[in-house]
Amino acid sequence: MINLGVLVSGSGTNLQAIIDGIDAGRLDAKIKIVISNNANAYAIERAKKHNIPAFIIQDSHFKTREDSDRHIVEIIKSHSVDLVVLAGFMRLLTPVLIKSFPMRIINIHPALLPAFPGLHAQKKAVEYGAKFSGCTVHFVDEGVDTGPIIIQAVVSVDDNDTEETLSKKIQKEEHKIYPEAIRLFAEGRIELKGRKVVIL
Ligand code: GAR
Repeated sequence: MINLGVLVSGSGTNLQAIIDGIDAGRLDAKIKIVISNNANAYAIERAKKHNIPAFIIQDSHFKTREDSDRHIVEIIKSHSVDLVVLAGFMRLLTPVLIKSFPMRIINIHPALLPAFPGLHAQKKAVEYGAKFSGCTVHFVDEGVDTGPIIIQAVVSVDDNDTEETLSKKIQKEEHKIYPEAIRLFAEGRIELKGRKVVIL
């Protein structure tokens, strides 16, 4: 059993997929805390419904982002979190946070990295004319979506796809591979060889 800290900004469907995986017994983990940088995130309601302590930490309440991240680090450490899970956390982490949990922070990105890093990945894939896109679970390093890749899933981009329809297709896959990646981590089956992740 591992302890998770989940960082969110929005609707929290990935948080929900992780909660559902735990409830269904597919994932031997406990979500100790949810942290949101957005007071209006629906993810906070999802956490509350499942009696998971939820904290709202907004950058505007701190002098710098580093100060905000120092506060996040304190909260995560005081809840014995083994793995930090970014689930639609829509702001870059500062080195303060990244260096506190080396190779213990994972993210889900709505594209097949290294294609379309950063914001609006689905829109970029449609506009570029990519025939396939998908989602990537990866470790977080100090770059933008550059850390070692754990799992990816592919979806086709059809001629009539829009940002919205592609996002829906990708999210369906996200909800499968994110709990799966956490399960692999929890079972100690993720080994890092250079920048390559080997699944044991
Ligand atoms: C997800 O599609 C995730 O891939 C994306 O935000 C969405 C959050 O949805 N993350 C990023 O774009 C990170 N750069 P959710 O709040 O319903 O889980």
